[in-house]
Amino acid sequence: MATAFQDSLNFTLPDSATLGEKSSNFSVISISNQHADAEISIQGAHIYRFQPKGHTPVLWLSEQSFFESDKAIRGGIPLCWPWFGDHGSDPQLPAHGFARTAPFELLNIQDDPLGQTQITLRLTHQSFNQSYWPEAFILDVAITVGQSLTVSMTMYNQSQSPCVFGSALHSYFHISDINQVSIKGLDQATYYDKVKDFEMDTHNGDITFDQEVDRVFVGTKEAVTIIDSGLNRSITISKSGSESTVIWNPWVDKAATMKDLHHGGYQTMVCVETANALDDTRTIAGNASHTISTTIAVNHL
Ligand code: BG6
Repeated sequence: MATAFQDSLNFTLPDSATLGEKSSNFSVISISNQHADAEISIQGAHIYRFQPKGHTPVLWLSEQSFFESDKAIRGGIPLCWPWFGDHGSDPQLPAHGFARTAPFELLNIQDDPLGQTQITLRLTHQSFNQSYWPEAFILDVAITVGQSLTVSMTMYNQSQSPCVFGSALHSYFHISDINQVSIKGLDQATYYDKVKDFEMDTHNGDITFDQEVDRVFVGTKEAVTIIDSGLNRSITISKSGSESTVIWNPWVDKAATMKDLHHGGYQTMVCVETANALDDTRTIAGNASHTISTTIAVNHL
């Protein structure tokens, strides 16, 4: 039976897509095409499942995640925007901005000639005006579900004046065991260590984990690869419009303080975030735009 939400759409759904509710009044899109299965929440334009055929899920999702209005989903790819982390001057404002809990509009879903499914969602200042961020904007999110996954977020500055913002495609990856993964691609990169009050340091070699890691690597344009010997696969995260990369795992103590993270959940996740954070905070001129994009590809080792 068609929901009111489905009735409100002004396009025809392709066979690859169905609309439903993850919980009461929490609308989601399920995609199943020849390449992959995926699930996307309209709130936050948030993809929380991506599973190419022949693989276990690539995105991690907490078993205790909320699927409620005004609460962010713990897992998948929450969108941090228009700032990354804590707000610069007002600690009362939501961490990572407001996009991840905002009511996006579903603009279109279509299959392309390669059999991939393309989903477009939009947020505007007219539809979601926040008094604490009185900018005139359009925020478009384009998701392509194929053998790989691409998520692009474009901000159009609708005013004549420049606008400053930060962002991240805060990607949670499903891994076998945090003790069995390494991350390649950040050798010799400079980072701010959030665990050490933003102390700066340089990383040498691959990244491995034996404690909480919360680092913003700056000057990083290149792809990063997770090598997961336990699942016998690699996940390559390539990007554009971003020169900062966040690596995060909360480890035991911080994970225990997070209500929406299931017991032991930190062991099977790692975040590799395509960002515009800290030194990479952006200014968009009046009537200009900026796109940040990531493509996630998985391969057997
Ligand atoms: C990361 C930050 O991007 O997100 C961490 O670097 C933070 O400091 C983490 O803890 C999760 O944030 P939140 O707001 O989703 O709990």
